[in-house]
Amino acid sequence: MKVLLTGATGYIGSAVTDHLVAAGHQVVALTRGAEPQPGRGWHAQVVGDTADPASLAGTVTPEIEAVIHLAPPSGDVDVDIAVIEALAAPLRGTRRPFVYTSGVWVLGATGDAQEVGEETPTDPIDIVGYRPQIERRVLAEVAEGVRAVVVRPGIVYGRGGGIPAILVDRARRQGTPEYYGVEGVHWPTVHVDDLAELFVAAVERAEPGTVWHGVGESAVPVRDLARAAGRAAGVLAAPQVVPVEQAAEVFGPLFAEALALDQSVSGAAARTALGWQPGRPGAVAELTTGSYRPVEVFGAPEGPETDTAVAAIRRVVAEVEQAQQNELVDRFLSVFRRQDPVWTTGHGKRLSGFEEIETFTRKVLPGAMAESTAVYDVERVLFLKPDVAAVNVRQQPVRHDGTRITDRPEGRPFYILVKEDGTWRVGAAQNTVVAD
Ligand SMILES: NC(=O)c1ccc[n+]([C@@H]2O[C@H](COP(=O)([O-])OP(=O)(O)OC[C@H]3O[C@@H](n4cnc5c(N)ncnc54)[C@H](OP(=O)(O)O)[C@@H]3O)[C@@H](O)[C@H]2O)c1
Repeated sequence: MKVLLTGATGYIGSAVTDHLVAAGHQVVALTRGAEPQPGRGWHAQVVGDTADPASLAGTVTPEIEAVIHLAPPSGDVDVDIAVIEALAAPLRGTRRPFVYTSGVWVLGATGDAQEVGEETPTDPIDIVGYRPQIERRVLAEVAEGVRAVVVRPGIVYGRGGGIPAILVDRARRQGTPEYYGVEGVHWPTVHVDDLAELFVAAVERAEPGTVWHGVGESAVPVRDLARAAGRAAGVLAAPQVVPVEQAAEVFGPLFAEALALDQSVSGAAARTALGWQPGRPGAVAELTTGSYRPVEVFGAPEGPETDTAVAAIRRVVAEVEQAQQNELVDRFLSVFRRQDPVWTTGHGKRLSGFEEIETFTRKVLPGAMAESTAVYDVERVLFLKPDVAAVNVRQQPVRHDGTRITDRPEGRPFYILVKEDGTWRVGAAQNTVVAD
């Protein structure tokens, strides 16, 4: 399909472009300026400004087979309704899809209700006050022969961006991870690439007049997100809750209210009816070991293959951390390759071969984390070959609540990882304590 995409340069729009193209569609990007933007994968670019609905006339040409409207609202309900009119009118009578992007904030606080679905009446918070009206205006196009559909994303994360990047930035600036409102706030979340796949599914096969929650995890405790954001920022401290009035001084009252919103929203309908399969790491994992904490990479070309390899290597190191923190001997052993692995501990004890490593681990790991534990962050990956990597890790001692123990030295584990039969495993490892 040839798809006109507004908001194509944005956070979500960039991912939607990638996934539309991967699914064989052509993206015609509507941009405010005419400057070409090479490398974006667009088939064509047209100029239009959603703050000026008249500028959209003629952008939905007869070859356009679908419209995805991702550009944000202008703040003026009449302008936004005029935008819907301008973009949807050329599709009337064609049964072609028009997908409008709303958001879960139109549901308001869900209170004690768990995982509310698309049938739940809207109760918008102020920042999206008139958005339900726009949703209804969009869905009214069904009567005009447009396959009108609404997608409501949760809080979008991944690719190092979105609202979680604000948490990372604040933790870095303040030296403390923070979250907003009250302690027990939850956010429904979605990985930006999973969400982009939902947009592709919606444009390809959503029934006219349908509304879909783009939600991967229905209610993530924001305290956990804040702690993970601190980790991404290199700040190992207890998250602090900032009252909404204080947050309003930083973010303005409308956005502060949104950040403090407690929601539990279901994305099950899209999984069942559209076959959507959001399968990427959850928001906490993504913040802890994913795109929010960049890794220096050497010896491999930039691109998706290297990204996939680095992600897999980070998962191995995350596995080491999980196994250590939870004293899981078998899980720890599973990261090692069977053939002649070697592991030298932080105290200089060299263990040669799987059996020695196993015997030692079974003896020392159970009970080893009673007082404290450690976090492991990949800092540098050098690909010696495409399937052999030298990995520099930073190990920091922490309490069980994730806060840094400052009077204990860090470690600098160094792993040689090998990819065999499609799986990365530790072939050799050595830890070194950092001396002051
Ligand atoms: N991010 C989330 O967590 C989230 C959650 C739920 C819903 N949403 C909704 O999803 C949509 C996209 O969000 P996003 O996070 O991708 O936003 P974003 O990164 O800020 O991107 C906004 C996009 O819209 C374009 N745009 C802005 N004003 C425009 C105008 N007057 N005319 C034409 N294009 C304009 C921008 O183009 P320029 O390059 O010209 O600036 C950019 O491509 C929004 O409607 C947002 O409310 C987002």
